[in-house]
Amino acid sequence: MSLRQQEVAGRATQFIDQGKGAPVLLVHGFPLDHTMWVHQLDELSKHHRVIAPDLPGFGQSVALNDAQSSTPLTMPRLADWLATFLDTIEIAEPIHYCGLSMGGYVGWEFASRHRHRLSHLIACNTRAASDSDLVRRARKVAAANARTHGTELLAETMAPKLVGEKQTHTQPNVLKSIQSMIRRTAPTSVAAGQLGMAEREDMLEFVQSIDFPTLFVAGQDDTVTPPDEMESNAKLTPGAKYHCFENAGHLVPMQAAVSFNKVVIDFFEQPT
Ligand code: MLT
Repeated sequence: MSLRQQEVAGRATQFIDQGKGAPVLLVHGFPLDHTMWVHQLDELSKHHRVIAPDLPGFGQSVALNDAQSSTPLTMPRLADWLATFLDTIEIAEPIHYCGLSMGGYVGWEFASRHRHRLSHLIACNTRAASDSDLVRRARKVAAANARTHGTELLAETMAPKLVGEKQTHTQPNVLKSIQSMIRRTAPTSVAAGQLGMAEREDMLEFVQSIDFPTLFVAGQDDTVTPPDEMESNAKLTPGAKYHCFENAGHLVPMQAAVSFNKVVIDFFEQPT
């Protein structure tokens, strides 16, 4: 595993950079970090240069400060940050983008704002619709709770939802790993991330205008971004492929790694 550190837009950023070939950008979910891609690195880097950053404030990238915790970390801001990140590490050619959940929300914005930088897109356990008012309100409460109480409660309550009810028992290592990622995420970043996701634009119209190969990846037991919703997003997207993985919840790359890697490698070979 090749871990690098680089200053991006004035902020120390940690990322994996492994392998050679057409670049693949792996963008983690919330409130996670690049280590969620551990099962992809060796397989994908046999064919590609695999880049997996910690988004600003997450993982081992510098935490956000108290003042920054009340400024929404919006999806367009993160998409533009990724473009700056690619500039900084001198990747100018179009990339294969693969984002999970929040990484997928950022993916729509990246595709819309930086289309020329994109070759293929994988939207993993994510959705194109914006939040309902109810979810938006819940995110504001969750942001305030993170600031006041830290991330322990989130690790206890959110991790089992991401992993899935059945998989909490059958895949205890995935649960453990997700809980440690959540526990080490700074509460300030959790708050800013929740506020940013609450501001998401509805991208349902955007997906209907997509003109690059797109693959939707769903988990059969995902209750956070249910397979039915993902399949209907895929049907709206011109030429899109859809793949639903068994025995997986909201974290297909961790929960169905072997079959997921194969599907991903095949998909990236599809001509643009
Ligand atoms: C994620 O996995 O990134 C989150 O579940 C996204 C969300 O809270 O909508």
